[in-house]
Amino acid sequence: MSDQGTMGSGITEVCARAGYRVVFREITDDAVEAGMARIKQSMERGVDKGKLAADDRDAALGRISGTTSYDDLKTCDVVIEAVPEKLEMKQDLFRSLDALLPPHAILATNTSSLPVIEMAVQTGRPSRVIGLHFFNPAPVMGLVELVKTVVTDPDALEAASAFARALGKTPVVCQDRAGFIANLLLFPYLNNAVKMLESGFATRADIDAAMVFGCGHPMGRLALLDLIGLDSAFEILDAMYRQFRETVYAPAPLIRQLMTADFLGRKTARGFYSYEEAGSPRVRETGHHGRELPAGAGSHVRRIGVLGSGTMANGIAEVAAKAGYQVVLRARSTQRASESQAKIAKSLGKAVERGKMTQEQLDATLALLETTTEMDALSSCDLLVEGIAEELDL
Ligand SMILES: NC(=O)c1ccc[n+]([C@@H]2O[C@H](COP(=O)([O-])OP(=O)(O)OC[C@H]3O[C@@H](n4cnc5c(N)ncnc54)[C@H](O)[C@@H]3O)[C@@H](O)[C@H]2O)c1
Repeated sequence: MSDQGTMGSGITEVCARAGYRVVFREITDDAVEAGMARIKQSMERGVDKGKLAADDRDAALGRISGTTSYDDLKTCDVVIEAVPEKLEMKQDLFRSLDALLPPHAILATNTSSLPVIEMAVQTGRPSRVIGLHFFNPAPVMGLVELVKTVVTDPDALEAASAFARALGKTPVVCQDRAGFIANLLLFPYLNNAVKMLESGFATRADIDAAMVFGCGHPMGRLALLDLIGLDSAFEILDAMYRQFRETVYAPAPLIRQLMTADFLGRKTARGFYSYEEAGSPRVRETGHHGRELPAGAGSHVRRIGVLGSGTMANGIAEVAAKAGYQVVLRARSTQRASESQAKIAKSLGKAVERGKMTQEQLDATLALLETTTEMDALSSCDLLVEGIAEELDL
């Protein structure tokens, strides 16, 4: 393993925990020490969370050694580089490693966006040079992208694939194009969120809340960019833009502006959001909405009318009743009204089975729900939501 930055230390840990002996190289003795400390700290967290036994931690640490000399890597079967994303630096490194390593050894790069072939041709073994793209944090993320170039030997690819599986990762194979699979799909989408913010169309909190609460994503797009780092995100987008010349990849100007101000995301405590301190995941602002409602806002709303008896109308009636509102659901026929009542009761029943609500809460919720076919029954509602068919004339 070359180098112990963010990715290097993570990959070293993954390999050692899977039973491989790992030699890592850093630039100075201090960097070797810091790299080792980072790995220990990460494993310690694994032990604290009950995900790693103390004995396994000790055994894994015993398989790792650090050095400042590339000579110490000369008996390795696989070398993975994780130096900064600079082509010339990686090319120099590949030339030196090629001179050192036995002929069967595989040389791998963890690059996110540089062409692997440009590194392969610096060596006398281009067919045994591949991309092994781990995701951050390497000990947690399950994917490894295997990048094959136009000259990659199928045996080397198979060996790399078996290695990735032995690490407990899921390997996927792709060609040598900027962005590989995951970033090529993800980054235009992240970039679009920044463009939406730039245009003033919606606030950052609402853009993020839309994807978290509407699409079930674990975090918002802008929050994810802060986690990745705006400098890294810029480099990845820019590399894809240079290769494909499609505007979806052209980094939104706001990304560069924030970078220029050194607002790089979590690592500098400020990006799209502000964090309690550098590296902290805790956002300074409270609440996901980031805007205050006046005290007592909405307090006159007690009785909710819902028009319709389809999937959405039933769902809206259910959440409103669960939240303690009186609900009148108006359907087109008596049969549809009783079907809605039954569907909502069934859905609440499942919540009771899963231990998410008690039978008493279910009874109280159903007591708040009234179904009807009469429009007049809606006349006393404070708020009316239509959930009827998507036809404008209706
Ligand atoms: N951070 C991520 O989310 C991520 C994810 C996947 C891949 N990558 C890729 O992994 C690689 C490393 O990224 P990182 O985030 O770990 O970077 P980093 O800045 O955390 O680490 C870089 C490492 O390179 C070493 N280094 C610096 N100058 C050097 C030199 N002249 N010669 C040799 N080593 C040198 C540093 O000591 C450090 O150990 C990059 O190619 C990056 O694109 C990063």
